[in-house]
Amino acid sequence: MNDRTLPTSLVNPYADPDDFDNNPSANTALGDVIATRMHRRHLLRGGVGALAAATLGPLALSACGGGGSSGGFPIIPPAPAPAPVPAPPPPAPAPAPAAGPALGFTAVSKSLADSIVVPLGYTATVIYATGDSIDPAVSDYKNDGTDDNFGRRSGDQHDGMHFFGLTGDGKPTLTNSDRGLMCINHEAINGTVAFMHPNGQTNAGATAGARPEAEALKEVEAHGASVVELARSGGKLATVKTSTFNRRITPRTPMTFGGPAKGSALLKTLYSPAGTTTRGMIGNCASGYTPWGTYLTCEENFAGFFTRGAADDAQRTPKELTAFLRIGLKQNVTGGQRWSTVVAADPASTEYQRWNASKTGASTDGTDDFRNTHNTFGWVVEIDPYDLSSTPVKHTGLGRFAHEGAWPSNPVVGKPLAFYMGDDSRSEYVYKYVSKATWIAADANPSDRLATGAKYLDDGTLYAAKFNADGSGTWLKLDLTNAAISGNTAYAFTDLADVLVNARLAADAAGATKCDRPEWTAVNPLNGEIYITMTENPDRGNVGSTSNNNVPNPDVDPAFPRYWLDNKAITTQNAAVQANKGDVNGQVMRIRETGNDASATTFNWDIYLFGSQAKADAGLDDVNYQKNVNLSGLSDFNDLSKPDGCWFSRASGILWIETDDNAYYDVTNCMLLAAIPGTYGDGGKIDVVNQANGKPGTAGTAPVTVTTYAGKKMTDTIFKRFLTAPKGSEVTGLAESPDGKALFINIQHPGENTAAANIGDPTKYESHWPGTGAGIALPYGPGGAVARPRSATVMITKNDGGVIGL
Ligand code: FEO
Ligand code: CA
Ligand code: CA
Ligand code: CA
Repeated sequence: MNDRTLPTSLVNPYADPDDFDNNPSANTALGDVIATRMHRRHLLRGGVGALAAATLGPLALSACGGGGSSGGFPIIPPAPAPAPVPAPPPPAPAPAPAAGPALGFTAVSKSLADSIVVPLGYTATVIYATGDSIDPAVSDYKNDGTDDNFGRRSGDQHDGMHFFGLTGDGKPTLTNSDRGLMCINHEAINGTVAFMHPNGQTNAGATAGARPEAEALKEVEAHGASVVELARSGGKLATVKTSTFNRRITPRTPMTFGGPAKGSALLKTLYSPAGTTTRGMIGNCASGYTPWGTYLTCEENFAGFFTRGAADDAQRTPKELTAFLRIGLKQNVTGGQRWSTVVAADPASTEYQRWNASKTGASTDGTDDFRNTHNTFGWVVEIDPYDLSSTPVKHTGLGRFAHEGAWPSNPVVGKPLAFYMGDDSRSEYVYKYVSKATWIAADANPSDRLATGAKYLDDGTLYAAKFNADGSGTWLKLDLTNAAISGNTAYAFTDLADVLVNARLAADAAGATKCDRPEWTAVNPLNGEIYITMTENPDRGNVGSTSNNNVPNPDVDPAFPRYWLDNKAITTQNAAVQANKGDVNGQVMRIRETGNDASATTFNWDIYLFGSQAKADAGLDDVNYQKNVNLSGLSDFNDLSKPDGCWFSRASGILWIETDDNAYYDVTNCMLLAAIPGTYGDGGKIDVVNQANGKPGTAGTAPVTVTTYAGKKMTDTIFKRFLTAPKGSEVTGLAESPDGKALFINIQHPGENTAAANIGDPTKYESHWPGTGAGIALPYGPGGAVARPRSATVMITKNDGGVIGL
């Protein structure tokens, strides 16, 4: 989701819901446990070396099954029983660094160009952009706003994706780099929707009349996901327009529910009075995959699409009002695109009515209206990319919130599987789901993939993370066996379905730790350690004031220790209106499960990477900045702001990190960086001194010192900027061919800061990429220098045919 455009419309106060804090709970931002830290760390001193993954081999993969026979998915043999860890100890001195290859490219500079920039020796090629036809019967994209039938074209704003290999006869394989199916999320249209119509949207304003059905249909179908075949053409992978595997899954695609909330009263609608099915998915942000060969696509910012009437609160129960508040869906809103205003040509259609979450019917159970429609979004959806006729499944066991992605633990035979998930909003939580079923090798290549999905994803336990001040952590169980949930008075949970539909409220009750916008999770294929990007939080440390949603701001704490002032496009500290403050640039957390067991209920954490500029802005104290903000020692070759995507290459072992930034945007466009990952505990305990001059409005107060656990510092050889992106875009999505010789990323919403009113004047477009061809092998699509910008999947290859990044 883009972060750059602050909400300006009364119509849609949730245009950028990542920027909102809907968490009024009193859950700790750890401040209440800081006082205990000194005592506990003396008690627990010593002995973390066992957790330091000393057994790590070279980065080249040896244990993840990628070299197996065709048809297999990763099978990891049972691990030797780990030594029990009686209590999560604090980090100890750094272990020896893991051996591994160096990054074999020269870092690219920060850039503000409307272009892709990759290192010398690499080529970037656009392969799939907004509006591309995936059907020989559908015309090529003219990119002038007249194209329709997005149900058979690429959607907009490409996000998470995954490459699923195909054998020559169309079967799943892990090893074929010459043919595959790419699953690609299409998250949103905010900031780019004007380009979808000849002269922008009709009646999208606050008080305008009905939206035209034809426009709304295009907009709805521009969301969802694509499944598109790739095959070699002229030596390079390219989309296959004629493939019978090609499929668009949209907010109109019928889906079923799986798991404990299926059939719940909370999911009943006029469309599905039984509460067992729903229509489509929306806000599909990051992604995941399963070890049985299916795609996971995750619904993030769903709340902003719905209408609620001006007097709907009076029609709803106190529990409903609490639940609405917690997802940020207030009354008297019309939804960002006002789809519920469409008067459908077919009077029997409820396609647009279902975007109205108001209680309009007389029933007691919601089967005569769409008062529960919002509950049918916000889930992890499983898609079988190999079966065109398969019905996607929303797995309710993984909880409902603003899902970013869902990444699996490394499968271990005989052990449960875990899926790690972030809830991307300010002050939200990290979650994991643990299957009841234990992994068996035969399930890597099942005859019925979605039945296997039901086995692992519909019966399990959801947890939320508590980051303790001593560097340990606890996975808090989210079900009615947890007395904090069954006895919760703020919201009386009816049953497990209620807990899962309202997972945020359950995590509040359980005592989860407020985080700074948890986005992607990644699991190191070599040692199982989990990385979680925490994008940023300008509310962090701004205690005594409230956030943009009237929620008290969280203080700094050991897990989110920094608070500082950053100027944007100005040189004086006093221009507060243009200053960022709080956790400006974000960080990447790292988790080591106790015993390296994905089903453990305790863990240890450290902060792998602190985002920051290499140098403080002019006028600010750089000595202090280097000591207390640039804690990873970043340089001009690797400094970054707001990490969002993070993903391990199985071929190279490189940890790739992508940014979705609006804080360093005066200096550089968004970027992709490559890191040689370390291991948990490779840094140490540090004190962060948050200076008073980093706290605007509290000058003269004493510095606030926070003790935290940092990963080892970065260097210019283990962490390098690999790519910079066109103007207005976010870099997201990561996938690779199995041989690692093609790396895929998505450029999301180039040109998104173009004012809709300027749609008639190409000289005022923020970006014309990829039509210009800037930084890519060939100009892509019509329009050239005056093209309307398009989101696109970019394939990166090395000119010598080698593995990307090495
Ligand atoms: Fe869709 Fe949180 O990024
Ligand atoms: Ca983001
Ligand atoms: Ca700055
Ligand atoms: Ca994201």
